[in-house]
Amino acid sequence: MPPRLFERTPVLSGSDAGAARREIREYFLATFNRYEQLFETLAGEPSYFRKPITLRHPMIFYFGHTATFFINKLVLAGLVKERINPEFEAMFAVGVDEMSWDDLDDAHYDWPRVDEVREYRNRVREVVDQLIQTMPLALPIVWDHPWWAILMCIEHERIHLETSSVLIRQHALEYVKPHPAWQPCRKSCQDPDGVPQNRLVQIPAGEVHLGRERSADRYGWDNEYGSHQAGIPPFQASRYLVSNREFLGFVEDGGYANDACWEQEGLDWRNYAHAAHPTFWVRQGDGWLLRLMTEEVAMPWDWPVEVNYHEAKAFCNWKKLRTGQAVRLPSEDEWYRLYDFAGCAEIAHDRIAAANIHLDHYASSCPVTEFPHGELYDVVGNVWQWTETPIYPFVGFEVHPLYDDFTTPTFDGRHNLIKGGSWISCGNEALRSARYAFRRHFFQHAGFRYVIADAPASVPESHYETDRLLSEYAEFHYGDEYFGVANFPQALAKIAIRAMGNKPARNALDLGCAAGRATFELARHFGHVTGIDFSARFIGSGVQLAKQGILRYTLTEEGQLVSYKERKLADLELDEARHKVDFFQGDACNLKSVFSGYDLILAANLIDRLYSPKKFLAAVHERLNPGGILLIASPYTWLEEHTELEEWIGGFKKNGENFTTLDGLKKLLEPHFRLLEPPQDVPFVIRETRHKFQHSLSEVTLWERIA
Ligand SMILES: [Fe+2]
Repeated sequence: MPPRLFERTPVLSGSDAGAARREIREYFLATFNRYEQLFETLAGEPSYFRKPITLRHPMIFYFGHTATFFINKLVLAGLVKERINPEFEAMFAVGVDEMSWDDLDDAHYDWPRVDEVREYRNRVREVVDQLIQTMPLALPIVWDHPWWAILMCIEHERIHLETSSVLIRQHALEYVKPHPAWQPCRKSCQDPDGVPQNRLVQIPAGEVHLGRERSADRYGWDNEYGSHQAGIPPFQASRYLVSNREFLGFVEDGGYANDACWEQEGLDWRNYAHAAHPTFWVRQGDGWLLRLMTEEVAMPWDWPVEVNYHEAKAFCNWKKLRTGQAVRLPSEDEWYRLYDFAGCAEIAHDRIAAANIHLDHYASSCPVTEFPHGELYDVVGNVWQWTETPIYPFVGFEVHPLYDDFTTPTFDGRHNLIKGGSWISCGNEALRSARYAFRRHFFQHAGFRYVIADAPASVPESHYETDRLLSEYAEFHYGDEYFGVANFPQALAKIAIRAMGNKPARNALDLGCAAGRATFELARHFGHVTGIDFSARFIGSGVQLAKQGILRYTLTEEGQLVSYKERKLADLELDEARHKVDFFQGDACNLKSVFSGYDLILAANLIDRLYSPKKFLAAVHERLNPGGILLIASPYTWLEEHTELEEWIGGFKKNGENFTTLDGLKKLLEPHFRLLEPPQDVPFVIRETRHKFQHSLSEVTLWERIA
């Protein structure tokens, strides 16, 4: 009889809701039970309360955490009405993220006893089981389906199954004990000279497609959705994962002590941690043992080495120094190229995997020579593989409302993707689309394969603009419309283009361009448009859009809560305009002489922000071609913090009578301009929070240069 397989992540489509319900129930129970069984490798009560590593909570937290996560998320989703134990559901809610390596969690916790937590878990099991058996179910289950929350909680526990197994491996030996259901692989080569040499495999060029659709039929985390594709030039990849034997070469050559091998961040980590060998290697006399989950064994030289990103990178740099070849880690894209090249496929639901993954084989790594995938080995499984790629959002990324901080805190350029899964990667973790990222100094059951490639690994943009003012302007220029008020920069550009009629339309200047929307809009009509703003921070949005075609920013919802947005030029039908614009920082009152010869100058919401609007208005004709048009739009919000009172051009009493800004504009502009048509008000709305908006009117005047 074939061994019983650990349940795969369910297929969420189809027409048999009864079968889907049964499958999800099995999946839940198998996960919940296997998780508890993992904790049976802990040797008694004290093991739960001692921290395996200072950066994380003690094991008792993780024992309770996955159960409270069910209740917390199901309450949030409105599927469970009553809490089971509010105190536990607060205490076990938030894990310690692996922050910097020198952050210590010193908070004091009054943890409950293990049997109290076990009792709590039993009640959660009953509540969730009841829910699964009784809640109405219509297929397919997709991202916004009520059942998605249940799948989310199960997959969350599968993640902790793996991360807790790492913590158990990091616990002192006295706190753990062997367990028949958690038996490691016993095959290993204990003679360093007996390990097959690694060699390079030629990987032909190809195209990779990443990302998944909302209609995909298995559970996915938010960061997997959207799309990304790339053409990959040919490269070479190591046939095997780097084994303990291969890594020994680096250790024995003094690689850990050789600063030239380490990136700066890696060097800082190495110095802090006093690292001199891989963390699970244990010195014994002249030789080495390897720490597994519950025991130390004679060094299996043919198993993959387990290291953090810094050590993997240092190995590559060492090899590069020794061989002169362009050795590095693969990018995420290149890993997908390896996957496709090797002909890998998702693991089957009813057959044992042809890889050391999903607990199908061992509760440990195994020899790097055991699982061939085409010409390569271990493209998936055995240990995770570090990549050069910091995690970033695919185009189309959206946060899932039930777990809004699952991924976004990792879009900081400091969390690198690991690919392929390990021997204990189960459920979603074992899928091709899985994307998990960790701090570069962090340890998982993770190692690496190296590649030789001429091109450096690309580092995709993962930045979200979080500066409040810049984000408000990003939304003002590229975001949604509120209260039926049309997009303001676009409305102004339309007015300007209409006023141009058949006049020449070579160059336009968008002065005070802010986030740059009007600059792009004007480029629909003009040969070239320059955007200038006093703030270099502001033009950053325009520059980013012109370069990448995409802008990401957070919006304040209320207080500290934000939502995540992305806007693409292509969606605004402005992709063509990208190549017709440029952006500069500049002072409208003191513009460089190169900024002249324009057929149109747009000055939107600018004049009441200048320190000397008079100076600007007196000289602006010099920048315009004869017959050219100046569009001024302003809510005339005169404030002394921007413009000293004596510089105001209107909005005060003069000789006892009202003197408006329009009066001042006429006085200053009429020597060189004629007013083309009566002024008109154009409204605009700036969103501050979900509940607060500024609604203003900007007065638009059009001036034609006549002298
Ligand atoms: Fe968690």
